[in-house]
Amino acid sequence: MTLVKATNITWHSTHVERKDREDLLKQRGCTIWFTGLPSSGKSTTAFSLEHELIKRGRLAYVLDGDNVRHGLNKNLGFSLEDRTENIRRIAEVAKLFADSGAIAMTSFISPYRRDRDLARGLHAETGLPFAEIFIDTPVEVCEARDPKGLYQKARRGELKGFTGIDDPYEPPLNPELVLKTERHSPSELVSEILAFLVEKGILNDKPAGT
Ligand code: ADX
Repeated sequence: MTLVKATNITWHSTHVERKDREDLLKQRGCTIWFTGLPSSGKSTTAFSLEHELIKRGRLAYVLDGDNVRHGLNKNLGFSLEDRTENIRRIAEVAKLFADSGAIAMTSFISPYRRDRDLARGLHAETGLPFAEIFIDTPVEVCEARDPKGLYQKARRGELKGFTGIDDPYEPPLNPELVLKTERHSPSELVSEILAFLVEKGILNDKPAGT
């Protein structure tokens, strides 16, 4: 449970509604939550989707694990508590991005179901669409890719508590979408996600301004 230290604070109502921002942007805000093992293809997929959305005139932004850990979350490591706090902060930030009218995408291992459910719950409370996408790449494939050499480091015993080797990953039980990166290219996966978003009414398939 997060310790609440802020006291004597009052919620300030805004003059502009989410709907006003969405009308301005001609899109609906939402959060697309990517989860999966290290090197499963989360960031490649999320950045490819962001690129395609921007090309189509949509405001989209990826919050990426490695990148966010260079700034906002640089004071967090990889213990259970720190991973939970990492995801709690990102869930809150994604909610703010989505409330601004942007298509927020998060690319974090987010290994614990409880933490991902918290992210989902935060969005549900405020009526923001949320879709969990499981990048379902087997650990053997992730380990063979190993672009950062971290699986090798973990195998050599030089990196303790590495997800997939000696730290747990809890696969989603009911994700909105499951993607297989061994069988499909990033552009095929992007098409699949876009079709899904349109089908669910999260994305309007007409380009902005038309
Ligand atoms: S999470 O578990 O808290 O969701 P997050 O997605 O932010 O993780 O960060 C994962 C990235 O941190 C990996 O892509 C990898 O580059 C790096 N990393 C460093 N140490 C670890 C570790 N022990 N377990 C997993 N990833 C690690």
